[in-house]
Amino acid sequence: MSRLTELRDVIREHNVAYYRNDAPTITDAAYDTLLSELLALETTLGVTSDTASLSGSVGTPVGLGKVHTHKSKMLSLANAFDTETIAKFMDGVSTKLTIGATTYCMEPKIDGLAINLHYVRGELLLATTRGDGTAGEDVTANVKSIFGIPHNLSAEGVVIPDELEVRGEIYLPKRELVAINLLRSASGEKLFVNARNAAAGTLRQSDPTLCKTRGLSLYVYGAGINGNLLAGTHSDVLSVLEQLGFSTTPGWLVSNIHEVGTQLASWADKRSILAYDIDGVVLKVNDLSQQVQIGAGRRYPHWAIAYKFPAEEGVSVVTAIVWQVGRMGVLTPVAHINPLVVGGATVSRVTLHNLSEIHNKDIRINDKVVVRRAGDVIPEIVRVHTGATPREPVVKVLTNCPVCGGGVEFNGVATYCKDSTSCPGQLKGRISHFVSKKCFDIDGFGDKLVDSLVAGNVLKDTVGVHRLTVKALEPFVGTKRAVKIHRCLLASKEISLPRFLYSLGIPHIGRSVSEALADKYGTVAGVICASKESVLAIPGTGDTIATNLVTYLQPSGDGINTISELLGNGITIKIPETTVGILSGEVMVITGTHPELSRTEIAARLVALGGVMANSVSRRVTTLVVGANPGGKVAKAKKLGITITTIDDMLAKQ
Ligand code: IVH
Repeated sequence: MSRLTELRDVIREHNVAYYRNDAPTITDAAYDTLLSELLALETTLGVTSDTASLSGSVGTPVGLGKVHTHKSKMLSLANAFDTETIAKFMDGVSTKLTIGATTYCMEPKIDGLAINLHYVRGELLLATTRGDGTAGEDVTANVKSIFGIPHNLSAEGVVIPDELEVRGEIYLPKRELVAINLLRSASGEKLFVNARNAAAGTLRQSDPTLCKTRGLSLYVYGAGINGNLLAGTHSDVLSVLEQLGFSTTPGWLVSNIHEVGTQLASWADKRSILAYDIDGVVLKVNDLSQQVQIGAGRRYPHWAIAYKFPAEEGVSVVTAIVWQVGRMGVLTPVAHINPLVVGGATVSRVTLHNLSEIHNKDIRINDKVVVRRAGDVIPEIVRVHTGATPREPVVKVLTNCPVCGGGVEFNGVATYCKDSTSCPGQLKGRISHFVSKKCFDIDGFGDKLVDSLVAGNVLKDTVGVHRLTVKALEPFVGTKRAVKIHRCLLASKEISLPRFLYSLGIPHIGRSVSEALADKYGTVAGVICASKESVLAIPGTGDTIATNLVTYLQPSGDGINTISELLGNGITIKIPETTVGILSGEVMVITGTHPELSRTEIAARLVALGGVMANSVSRRVTTLVVGANPGGKVAKAKKLGITITTIDDMLAKQ
């Protein structure tokens, strides 16, 4: 896979984790590095970043409600991490405007979720998330339940444009997060890691009554379409919006880098005592006509910049370094530390990624370490603060898998457990992946339950998941939860093709590759029949992906058996309505044998052409497909007047 494709794939996955699932898996800084690399690579290669290119998108299209196009694009903000970058930005603005002094508005950067409120003749008709910046998800019902968001606009002396987009940040006040988490902990639910995730999770669920009780708020920071009809400067637009009943972000006008510095220091000072989370301060050219003159790029306006506060740091002690095995066998060292409150959350586990990271930072047990966590989820150990005295031994290369005791392989970067078939750690990882949100999405099937079922020898593979009965689950979760989980198990049996493919856990077949395969082949059978060459022709795939897929799907191999067993468990793949093959509408039964192909493979090919398979001859069957030595099915088919054709004739239709 080329680095370009790899980067786009990885960024797309992180976008989904951050924007769609509200559960980022890397730090903002690590994400920014990936994005910068992509932008640089696109520039070097001279590739245009069209909408499919992620450096050109500012979020990710969404999942819950209907998607609506914004009347004007919702841009993001370029980041600055020091005052030199801000000074450079201000110089750039002055150069573009060819004037000496410009007035800027400085506002807190609220850590929440961007929202677009679309008013038509003063009435709130639609509220959408930012989505990919061009279109976002309909969350109107939830937004209307939030206290303080006007449903109708009117104010004396204010002429309201026929169409108006009001933009701001939905956020959860800090005290509301504490209250929600108290309730969640009392009812055994997973706690929200921060206010932003709680706000996003609340807004993107489907119950407005729940949304109403959660205490969300809105700070308006600007306008989209027709905002310029309200006033001539950004600060005046906010004043008019305030008259119309919105709470707007507090703002200060500044005109030089010294005033900017004073404001930054002041916001950094009061950050911890504010009622809401902020992750920086935004600097905007105040005059709207100057904003137009300066213009915007694909992702960011050139007239605004966000100063991001440095990530918070704290010191703790490493109590253990524990190796965890993932579903692909990768062994990842995790530092257990004395619980530490940093960046708004309690941290007790920090991933160390691999042995090189441990050695480069020379982290050992009992060391005091500096832990950093930005306003996002993944904490990191920055460096050793002071080593233990005397120091504990250097962490060694593993010789055996700490979970199964089997052999390991070190490829210079990562360490792998070689026993993919019987290592319980890998099995747990595979099952957790299989039941996870992005795959079969079985509610209530958490890691703890997976651990218990594997340890109790109740689950030996992923195909066993859909065979679990209430009785089998009961000893681990009690009757009530067992019934609930079982209901979810049954409901999960109907699955889309991309999710099904992703759930198989084939190395390098991630979500976007699964989607591309589903787009190209339409059905499981189509994917099974795909040749390596045809997979290679899909943009974004490469030799590793094609080889892994074809190897997994080799005739009569473990992969095919897993698929057959899953389908035998009653899993059905939702066929997109648009998939129509040459055999669409045909219901077929196979009888007899073929010199080269197994029954499963023949069925797979026929389904790929749009046919539906049945096991026995009945009136609903349209064609009997016959091979060598057919049984009594032929006579029955003749009696019912069903078309009889040979396997080779049928496959020739491909
Ligand atoms: S202005 C065209 N102002 O930060 C400029 N954004 O990282 C649009 N945000 O998508 C954004 N507080 O969701 C602006 N005072 C503020 C903000 C703010 C929070 C969010 C907003 C934006 C994101 C960019």
